[in-house]
Amino acid sequence: MRKSSIEFQRNGDKENSPFFEEYLTKLLDERDRTGLTDMIGEIDVMMITVEPGCSVAYVGELCLMSPYQYLVTLESESHHTHVLRVDMNAPDILVREVKNPNTRGIFRSLNEVYPIGAHKPNSRYMGEVFRVTNLHEVVEQQKAREIRFFTQDQIRKLELPGNMAVVKPSPYTHNICGYWERPLDQLRVYSLGLSSIRNDVQDACLAAKELQARLHVADLILPIDHLATRVYSQNREAAILEYLSLSSYYYWGSYDIRDQNSSTNVTKSVHHSEERVSPAKVFTAANHPYFVNHLLQIPSPTENFVRNYGPRLHHIAFAVADGERNGKTNIDHVVDSIRSAGKDFLVQVIGSPEEGLKQIFSSASEHSSLIIEYVQRFNDFRGFFTKQNVSELTHAAGVEETLQALQAEAVAARPVDAR
Ligand SMILES: [Fe+2]
Repeated sequence: MRKSSIEFQRNGDKENSPFFEEYLTKLLDERDRTGLTDMIGEIDVMMITVEPGCSVAYVGELCLMSPYQYLVTLESESHHTHVLRVDMNAPDILVREVKNPNTRGIFRSLNEVYPIGAHKPNSRYMGEVFRVTNLHEVVEQQKAREIRFFTQDQIRKLELPGNMAVVKPSPYTHNICGYWERPLDQLRVYSLGLSSIRNDVQDACLAAKELQARLHVADLILPIDHLATRVYSQNREAAILEYLSLSSYYYWGSYDIRDQNSSTNVTKSVHHSEERVSPAKVFTAANHPYFVNHLLQIPSPTENFVRNYGPRLHHIAFAVADGERNGKTNIDHVVDSIRSAGKDFLVQVIGSPEEGLKQIFSSASEHSSLIIEYVQRFNDFRGFFTKQNVSELTHAAGVEETLQALQAEAVAARPVDAR
């Protein structure tokens, strides 16, 4: 019998409010009691949307930097949706591209009110879909808990798979979450458009896989370890509790990264201790809102990011197999190899085997605006980070983002016909 959702060991040093602690227990107890925790399984699918004309290049990029392979394209009236898969244990990724750049919709609107987000209005991580054992029952129970869903008609118009129930974007994270029913012995089948294997996407994937083989990295990059979302400081606790209400995840704990005015807050699946089956969901929020920065006089890269891009997924972290290759730790070998293939990283690999893990951030993808993190854990280390690593990573991402903000302002200042 599985543990109750509140019984998992707590990690971290960040203090929560009495409200958070009270409702954490109440929400998880109720979720367990009503059967939702048992009915909602792992993250089965993740959805990303990119700019028109960018999806093939983005599939190539993901296939180079991760274990994902191109499977098939679903063509619907106004979108191409490429399905990427590792295997049936790790979640699929759907990479979606709108055909007409003038198409407007809710996901675009979520980008458009933010100064940098507006520059790539179609690029964002949309959200994840959980495998459930009883779709009708999960949806009915969630509706009774005041969770709002898109109607079937809206799902059809949004050209999302018709066999999913999709919750409207979170007011705290702007991500969606969905549910679909799939017995474990059945493949994932998407009820959307016409499916075909496209030569151009296939070629992009094959070229990436050949390069991975030449670089001797293919066997070292493992499935997704965690997904990290950035939210406004005042929404930290609400975002965590909301996600626990939508999922079958538990609260692992929070670390205070005081010198970067930030905290990292981790939730994990109650059903799967292995992140490669169901990635951990991480929320990062500033400790203080932006308008007190001038009094505190400390950097605030997390709040800056949210103000520039809006609340959204910041990075996808892939695990790197523990071990060494060519006299380097695997993560150093992977990063050096992929860097030689023309991909940029924000800093050098940070951390050490003695500290338990090494990590690095890539530059943000020009196609999706998402950063890829690599993380190698040594021996039996089970943690997500060391405080020093997170501090350095947060700082590096902030520096990169400041540059982007300056570039965006420079573009905005130019006359329209000169852009
Ligand atoms: Fe991370």
